Amino acid sequence: MKKIVVLISGNGSNLQAILDACESGSVSGTEGISGAVTAVFSDKAAAYGLERARSSDIPAIFVDPGEFASRADFDAALMEKIDSYQPDLLVLAGYMRILSDEFVRHYLGKMINIHPSLLPKYPGLHTHHKAIEAGDEEHGTSVHFVTEELDGGPVILQAKVPVFTDDTPEQLQERVQTQEHKIYPLTIQWFLQDRLKMADGSAVLDGKVLGSHGYADE
Ligand code: GAR
Repeated sequence: MKKIVVLISGNGSNLQAILDACESGSVSGTEGISGAVTAVFSDKAAAYGLERARSSDIPAIFVDPGEFASRADFDAALMEKIDSYQPDLLVLAGYMRILSDEFVRHYLGKMINIHPSLLPKYPGLHTHHKAIEAGDEEHGTSVHFVTEELDGGPVILQAKVPVFTDDTPEQLQERVQTQEHKIYPLTIQWFLQDRLKMADGSAVLDGKVLGSHGYADE
């Protein structure tokens, strides 16, 4: 079995898409090896994603940042807990904490994130609002390897959506998330099948170095 550990802070709709894909067999390793989420961690006690994990009989673990003196201490404790599950892949799915450099280095090349913009556009927060404010005609989402630069690691795959003139950030977010639920499981599948890796700071798929917008770069 290929083991996936997921980190969340909120609703967990991407987590659900990954759970569903594992269940249906569309996220799996080579030669019929299954893929499974073996633990879900949250830095927020009330994250609905923890409920989703429990409903699938998966360990759902809240780690309270308030119990640690520093970010480094919290991340060190979290790493120890994560490593007890020996993940092949660590997936950030709406995990809203800044990561310490030690944490990033520890999982370099085996940690991916999904960010709601067409990176390198709009790193950080409020991306849907920013796209609307800027009058952008298209917006989207990016899956990328996590590096020490915030939302700056090599992009693996993006999905675009149109922005309509009367869109609210919530409507745009919903359109983006529909795409996220497709591209995140697909990217995870590539990784578990050993088709995807990070090498020399780039994302590499089937031996081909991907461009700055990932697979299907224009
Ligand atoms: C997702 O849209 C994801 O792109 C975003 O949080 C949302 C979580 O939704 N991530 C970030 O903003 C990370 N910088 P979910 O909890 O329903 O999966």
